[in-house]
Amino acid sequence: MARRIVITSGKGGVGKTTITANLGIFLSTLGLRVVMIDVDFGLNNLDVVMGVENKIVYDVSDVISGRCRAKQALVQDNGRKNLFILPSGGLAAQAPVSGQQLKLIIENLSPLFDYVLIDCPAGLDAGFHRAVACAEEAIVVATPALTSLRDADKTVTVLKSYKLQRIGLVVNRVRGDLIMSEKMLLPRDIEGLLKTDLLGVIPEEDAVFLSGVSLPKTSDSYKAYKLLALNLHKQTGKIFDPTKKYSGFFGSIRRSIKRSV
Ligand SMILES: Nc1ncnc2c1ncn2[C@@H]1O[C@H](COP(=O)(O)OP(=O)(O)O)[C@@H](O)[C@H]1O
Ligand SMILES: [Mg+2]
Repeated sequence: MARRIVITSGKGGVGKTTITANLGIFLSTLGLRVVMIDVDFGLNNLDVVMGVENKIVYDVSDVISGRCRAKQALVQDNGRKNLFILPSGGLAAQAPVSGQQLKLIIENLSPLFDYVLIDCPAGLDAGFHRAVACAEEAIVVATPALTSLRDADKTVTVLKSYKLQRIGLVVNRVRGDLIMSEKMLLPRDIEGLLKTDLLGVIPEEDAVFLSGVSLPKTSDSYKAYKLLALNLHKQTGKIFDPTKKYSGFFGSIRRSIKRSV
């Protein structure tokens, strides 16, 4: 049976979809079978992030209306044979989806996979509850921005009423240089503020990556996602340190270069 994990945040635009996609990629690289489900029916874009939008034949609404089985609607990733996406189809393509219907689809898929990653919509309304009701664990994504932290705090409070097995925190868009110059909160401080165990830290990425394409192995994001996937899967306790490359003599030079660009 798969671990069913919802990736949520309260606030939009903090990186839920990006983190869902990359967690899917890195967990599948560990040899695990992963399905990612886009439950953001309003602003669905997981298919685009993964670069599979042209391969979609069926979506969740087709499964619900009985036009196909859940397994038939799965879209295989380009190149990773144990990674799949169940697309949402967006608002135009689908009939209203109830939490119960979604839960049933996810329960049907669970025996086929090691992980079901549920990409949650922003907000704390019906779409959020529909997504969380299908999960047994949650990952809360927050950025060090105050607005994000406030929304993450509210999200954690609501998640606690669900009696989930585990709630983990991923702090996204962290800048080591700003932490070193005390202009950004430390992820460990955010962990304390939100009273939620830190599962991973993802750095702010300057480079623009094409959808579905693997991150370069030398990039900090690659290292950070690898550690996140390992910590999620094996509880290694190892978390990416964004300040490392800005420490010491060469680190201070890197910091001043970063300041001047
Ligand atoms: N670590 C990061 N560094 C730089 N840009 C990022 C990072 N994480 C996400 N983004 C960008 O932020 C935007 C919003 O991300 P997205 O995953 O769509 O957020 P959400 O699903 O929470 O609305 C996207 O353009 C994405 O490329
Ligand atoms: Mg999203």
